Amino acid sequence: MKPRAYITRRLPQAAIDIVSAACETTLWDDEANPVPRETLLRAVADVDGILTLLTDRVDTELLAAAPRLKVVANMAVGYDNVDLPALTARGVLLTNTPDVLTETTADLVWALILAASRRVVEGHRLIAAGGWTTWSPMFMVGQDVHGATLGIVGAGRIGSAVARRAVGFGMPILYHNRRPSPSLEAQIGAIPGAVIRYAPTLDDLLSTADVVVVLVPLTPETRGMFGAREFALMKPTSVFVNASRGPVVCEAELIEALKRGRPWAAGLDVFEHEPIGADHPLLALPNVVLTPHIGSATVATRTRMAVVAATNLVAALTGQPVPNPVNRVEVKGEGRDGGT
Ligand code: DGY
Repeated sequence: MKPRAYITRRLPQAAIDIVSAACETTLWDDEANPVPRETLLRAVADVDGILTLLTDRVDTELLAAAPRLKVVANMAVGYDNVDLPALTARGVLLTNTPDVLTETTADLVWALILAASRRVVEGHRLIAAGGWTTWSPMFMVGQDVHGATLGIVGAGRIGSAVARRAVGFGMPILYHNRRPSPSLEAQIGAIPGAVIRYAPTLDDLLSTADVVVVLVPLTPETRGMFGAREFALMKPTSVFVNASRGPVVCEAELIEALKRGRPWAAGLDVFEHEPIGADHPLLALPNVVLTPHIGSATVATRTRMAVVAATNLVAALTGQPVPNPVNRVEVKGEGRDGGT
């Protein structure tokens, strides 16, 4: 018998076809809305694998509802929606979708850097409101991006793609990770004109960089990493960009800091509680540019992510090598009758 799989959202057909070819597949057939929790808990009662999104909470409650579960294939590179220790303790494999979204997400980071530094959205809003009356010397002046120092907090795959683009803008690059990355320095340092340096402390990076980009995963250590103290260390001309996870930033403290003008502006793709509504206090500030968690949202990349997640799921359930395992567990048995 084929293994059973549940897909928690309508995905691009190519991904559904991959899962359906190998598994008895059930799908929450809605693209725009997450599967209700109760429906999900019922649906996983006899499945061997689930293809999840970052809107699905995969926790001990879900594990208890899914006694046959062997694999969770998350369609994202981040997996803070998943209780990884609980999965590992139960012997359930987690997979993610790294690499395929790296360049696309780096592009969005740059959209935020440029839009926040050069007041692109504020300018658009001003014109739409009929507020453009003349040209004047200091009208809508922003901050230069070219030549500014770029600080990357959490320089992994996406950070390194952001850094590569920065060389074209003539920006010296500072990065802060738990430890220096010789491979990142070699990769960026090989680009003619590139300057890259490790910042041994976050404080060092914050007080030196003109543009601060946050790309750390959300973990117990990074939750609340940026608050009033960190913003006070930044330059009064600095631009802050977060494209990782919202809870890495204390949003209320960021709002107060932006009101005081330090950072000078912010570009945010992620928020403490998503989705945010039209009444969110960030929207009342002129010096912010907000996007609705769309770092990886291009047709090609979201399709690739879905296909990668589907491929991971099927590989795990059919005894093939799994391309993107997150934890180390042995997936026991092939199909429904080989289960534990
Ligand atoms: C991820 O992959 O973690 C993003 O947040 C969605 O692309």
